[in-house]
Amino acid sequence: MSPDWQSTMTRAEANNLLLPGRIARANLVPRHKELGFAAWRTDYGDEYDDARIAAFKAARAYATDIIATGLKKARNMILMGNTGCGKTHLAHAIIVNLAMMGFEIRRENYWTMTRNIRSTYGRGSQDDETESTILDLAGSIDVLLLDDLGPGALHGSRDKGATDHERRIARDIINMRDEAALPTIATINLKRGELETWFGETVAVSRFFHGAVEADLFGMPDMRDAENLKSKGE
Ligand SMILES: Nc1ncnc2c1ncn2[C@@H]1O[C@H](COP(=O)(O)OP(=O)(O)O)[C@@H](O)[C@H]1O
Ligand SMILES: [Mg+2]
Repeated sequence: MSPDWQSTMTRAEANNLLLPGRIARANLVPRHKELGFAAWRTDYGDEYDDARIAAFKAARAYATDIIATGLKKARNMILMGNTGCGKTHLAHAIIVNLAMMGFEIRRENYWTMTRNIRSTYGRGSQDDETESTILDLAGSIDVLLLDDLGPGALHGSRDKGATDHERRIARDIINMRDEAALPTIATINLKRGELETWFGETVAVSRFFHGAVEADLFGMPDMRDAENLKSKGE
C-alpha cells in the first residue's frame, strides 16, 4: 500500500518537509550553511587550485553517485590533508546534499564523540545517552561523516587507556558500517600508513579504504588564513 502522503503531496514535497528535522538531528557544524559546494573556491590563484578542482569534482561525483545508485552500492570517501585545507568543508557539502535528497545523515567529530562516550561511563543506566546509543546511531545512520579520524595533537602525551579506547571506537564503527554496507565519509589529517600505525593493525584500515574514493589534499596551505584575511577585509 502507498504511504498516505502520496495521495496529497509528491515525494519531493514530503522530503522538503522532513529536511529541517533531518538537518537538526545531523549534528552539523553550526556554520554549515557556509560549507556548501557553491562556496567552494578554486580561484585563490596559487599552485593548488587544480587540486581544489579535483577534490571538488571527486566530492560532488561521490554525492551524485549515491543519489543515482543508492546506498547499497555506495563506497566510502576519504578526504586526507593537513588542517585547514578544506576537508570538513567538502565533507559537509556532500552530506548536506545527500540530506536534501532524502538520506539520513550525521556528523561526528571523532574526538568529541569518543570523549562523549567516555563521559557516559559510570552514569546510571537510566541515562538516555550511553556508549551503545551513540555507537548504534553512528553505525546505522544512512551516511556518516567521521570528522578528524585519528590521533589528535595530544597523542603520545595521553594515557594508553584513552588511546586504546579511541581505537576501539573507530574499529567498532568501521566494522558496523562495513557489515551494514553503509557509506562513511572520513576526514583524516594522516597518511594511510600513519593511520595504520596509530590503529596498530591494518585490517580495519584496509577494510575502510577498500574501494573508497580518496581525495588527497596534502601539501595545501591552511585556508583559515585566507578566510581570516577576508573577514578582516584585507
Ligand atoms: N577551496 C575552498 N573554498 C572556500 N573555502 C575554503 C576552501 N578551502 C578551505 N576553505 C575554508 O577554510 C576553512 C578551513 O577549512 P576546513 O574544511 O575546516 O579545513 P579542514 O577540515 O581540512 O581542517 C573553512 O572556513 C573553509 O570553508
Ligand atoms: Mg576539519
